[in-house]
This record gives sequence, C-alpha cells and structure tokens, in this order.
Amino acid sequence: MRLVLVFLLCFFVAAAVESSFITPAEYSKMLYFNPHGIGCNKCHGAEGKGSVIGVYYEFDKASGQNKKHEVVAPNIVGISLENFKQALANPKNFMPSYSLTNNEIAALYMYVNKLFKKVENDK
Ligand code: HEC
Repeated sequence: MRLVLVFLLCFFVAAAVESSFITPAEYSKMLYFNPHGIGCNKCHGAEGKGSVIGVYYEFDKASGQNKKHEVVAPNIVGISLENFKQALANPKNFMPSYSLTNNEIAALYMYVNKLFKKVENDK
C-alpha cells in the first residue's frame, strides 16, 4: 500500500515539474502540429491561414479541355469557436476526424487565433 502511495506521489511530482517546463501557449502549439494524428499545419498551414492541398484535372467534354480543380483546406483563423468545434466534431470531405477533448479543441482554437499572446501581453 505504502509503495503504491510513494509511486503515486512520484507521478504527481513528475507531472507538476513537467508542467512547469511547458506554458499553455507552447502546449497548444505542440497540439496543433501533433494532434494525435496528422498535424493541422500539414493542410491549414503553420498559421492556420489555409492552403491548397491538392490539384486534379477533369476532362470537360464541352470545351474539349482539362479543367483544373483545387482542393483547399480553408483559413481557420477568426472563425467562431462554435464553428471550429463543429468542424472537428463533424469533419467534411478531406478534413480528417480526430478524438480531441474539449480542452484540446479550446487550446487549438486559442493557438490559431493567437489568444495566448494577447493574454501574455496583457500581464
Ligand atoms: C488532410 C488535411 C487536413 C488536416 C490534417 C486538417 N484539416 Fe481541417 N479541414 C480540411 C479541409 C479540406 C477542410 C474543409 C472541409 C469542407 O469541405 O468543408 C477543413 C475544415 C476545417 C475547419 C472548418 C473551417 C470552416 O470555416 O468551416 C476547421 C475549424 C478545421 N478544419 C480545423 C482543423 C484542425 C484544428 C486540425 C488539426 C486538429 C485540422 N483541421 C486538420 C483539411 C484538413
């Protein structure tokens, strides 16, 4: 029993020490680049401004030409938290599905909208 308590105590102390090495802003950035799956940055870009993730051509019979189509990961900066949550809960088309907690979603939202910087600057 005592051994278990000592073990648990070590765990809590380690967790406490660890948390002092990483700020919430750093944590949210880490999550954006590595959210238990493919990084958001790979499609939405490092800043969340969006990017073209693929191009395909479709033959258009009427004009006899190939028509170019772009697959776009949209800008995700400045949208409402409600829309942000919705997009993660019901991903569409090429947007992958993730198993993120509400706190993780909030951290990602704060990261892309640079809300941590604002909080830190206000100090
Ligand atoms: C494989 C590429 C890809 C990755 C990785 C990806 N997304 Fe997306 N995301 C998309 C695409 C494509 C859409 C547009 C879906 C559609 O057609 O509506 C989208 C849509 C969204 C939207 C909705 C934007 C709006 O205006 O409605 C949000 C928010 C979003 N993604 C956040 C994220 C976050 C946060 C991550 C990381 C956890 C992430 N995405 C990872 C491709 C990606």
